[in-house]
Amino acid sequence: MAEVVGAEGEPGMGNFVAGKVVAVTGAGRGIGRAVALACAAEGARVVVNDYGVSVEGAEPTSRVAADVVEEIVAAGGEAVAVADDISTMAGGQRVVDTALAEYGRIDGAVCVAGILRERMLFNMSEDEWDPVLATHLKGTFTVFRAASAVMRKQGGGTLIGFTSGNHQGSVSQANYSAAKGGIISLVRSAALGLHKYGVTANAVAPVARTRMSAGVPMELKEIGDPEDVAALVVYLLSDRARAERITGQVYTVAGPKIAVWAQPRELRAAYAHEPWTPERIADVLPGTVGTDPMPLLERLEQMARAAAAGARPNA
Ligand SMILES: NC(=O)c1ccc[n+]([C@@H]2O[C@H](COP(=O)([O-])OP(=O)(O)OC[C@H]3O[C@@H](n4cnc5c(N)ncnc54)[C@H](O)[C@@H]3O)[C@@H](O)[C@H]2O)c1
Repeated sequence: MAEVVGAEGEPGMGNFVAGKVVAVTGAGRGIGRAVALACAAEGARVVVNDYGVSVEGAEPTSRVAADVVEEIVAAGGEAVAVADDISTMAGGQRVVDTALAEYGRIDGAVCVAGILRERMLFNMSEDEWDPVLATHLKGTFTVFRAASAVMRKQGGGTLIGFTSGNHQGSVSQANYSAAKGGIISLVRSAALGLHKYGVTANAVAPVARTRMSAGVPMELKEIGDPEDVAALVVYLLSDRARAERITGQVYTVAGPKIAVWAQPRELRAAYAHEPWTPERIADVLPGTVGTDPMPLLERLEQMARAAAAGARPNA
């Protein structure tokens, strides 16, 4: 189901998140940078965190975060850089402590930082698994942990995690997919656990042209720019989204498309009148409970057929 909304003039820049203090991890490049710039342009004071590493997570430099702060300040905004590694508890804490030390509060924590270490599951090493989980999943936890403690006392705040369509599964990025699935569950847990304190938590699954997506070996049919993602994040951080009580949601944003993902739920059930045995399950399960076909598996088969016919795969 899709709805097309028309253009009603240029969106005004200025005050969508005026007065808020927002921390953004991975804010030195790509989507995080666009989020930091958009938050500042819409009136927020911004903590710009970036460890300044390669796509694989190597060779850190503090220059990357400092450059974005300079860009924000040059445009008349307010920002401070934190070049720490958010996969450490100290790094996550420093992001939040810097917001408090510089600006006295924290209204939004947006966890965008991420790396890739691509490998087929049967060849994946511990050194390809651990840093990817540490950057994405633990790196969201460290910041959510520190930010939520403050937001609980403040009586409000917004947490935003970054996931991916790949949370459905991935051929050659099981580490990344597992981390992104974990982030969705972490976000939903934050939404539930912090609901009574007025804190909302949502996840964004972007598709945008960055150095990270440049490595995808297929043509993406639906893709946009980091600025498209930033607009959604600014909205989710705003009082407009808070008034709509948006929490526990996962949104895809891919250029002109914004979509909401379904909540996981049971599809079909069967009940036994006597204790289950493997034999009884074999008789009942295929016909009644059945399966829920995996969209990505179907797409994989389509792509294999297209490749066999000599066509370039697309997704
Ligand atoms: N680009 C896409 O199409 C796409 C698709 C799905 C999901 N995502 C997700 O969106 C987020 C942003 O991706 P991007 O495409 O902008 O990537 P990017 O590589 O352009 O930027 C990621 C930034 O994170 C920083 N970073 C990495 N490890 C860090 C750490 N330990 N501490 C602090 N900063 C760290 C990097 O230095 C880099 O500047 C990621 O979580 C990614 O998985 C992106």
